Amino acid sequence: MTAQTIDGNALARAIRAEVSGRTAALKARGVSPQLNIILVGEDPASQVYTRHKVNDSTETGLGATLERYPADMTESALLDRIDALNRDPSVHGILVQLPLPRHMDAGKVIEAIAPAKDVDGFHVASAGALVTGLPGFWPCTPHGCLKMLDSIGYDLRGKHAVVIGRSNIVGKPMALMLLQRNATVTICHSATADLKALTRQADVVVAAVGKRNVLTADMVKPGAVVIDVGMNRNDEGKLCGDVDYAGVAAVASWITPVPGGVGPMTRAMLLVNTIEAAERACTAAEGARPTAT
Ligand code: GUN
Repeated sequence: MTAQTIDGNALARAIRAEVSGRTAALKARGVSPQLNIILVGEDPASQVYTRHKVNDSTETGLGATLERYPADMTESALLDRIDALNRDPSVHGILVQLPLPRHMDAGKVIEAIAPAKDVDGFHVASAGALVTGLPGFWPCTPHGCLKMLDSIGYDLRGKHAVVIGRSNIVGKPMALMLLQRNATVTICHSATADLKALTRQADVVVAAVGKRNVLTADMVKPGAVVIDVGMNRNDEGKLCGDVDYAGVAAVASWITPVPGGVGPMTRAMLLVNTIEAAERACTAAEGARPTAT
């Protein structure tokens, strides 16, 4: 079998077009959706990621402001800035780019963001909403993976999905989303005794470890769907995922490439969360406004 590719770039483009339409509709209601991105320090990868996020936002008509602060910014100054953004009704989404400098407590910083503006979906209130099925913002990467499965018309009901990796940002929320779609879900991690025995049973594998060749052809059931969240460099310095793409593509039915797979979808889902946050704020404000008599 030779797998078909799920094209994250094409899908993300379609999502951006949809967000552009929603942005225009919101502007017609008198609201300009606005995302503020906070970058503390000079981490090179973070600089690239945040620039992409701003460019994507601008392309869809969303206002995006990149706030850059020096690496020695104090945690309390950052918390003060977040507090100001929480109170500012013209700001609908707040994203603090991770990693933060070592002297800051990332958990505390994330918890300072108002859940209604938590477009990353990292706040404990957002996590709780996902667990319970209440409305809230879903983390962008696993949500993007789910959209990729939807794009091929994949019905998860009764399927066995194996998630490799248990991070709060990808693995755990991914498992919950798959569960919500009635998949039977196994979460594997560094202490899993026999990873291959589990992945061999999987109809869907999501690899989210951050290590090359975590999933190889011998670990995949013929016809499985494979989603690769990894973003690594190979020996030649080229971008690669967690999956041995060439080997696994010979066994799987569908596979996501790296680059051009989950990465652009993560960014697209940030735009979806941001427009959603702005729409909710607008609807709430319209509801609170006294009606003319
Ligand atoms: N650093 C790497 N990926 C992300 C992300 O999706 N959100 C934030 N806030 N920081 C990141």
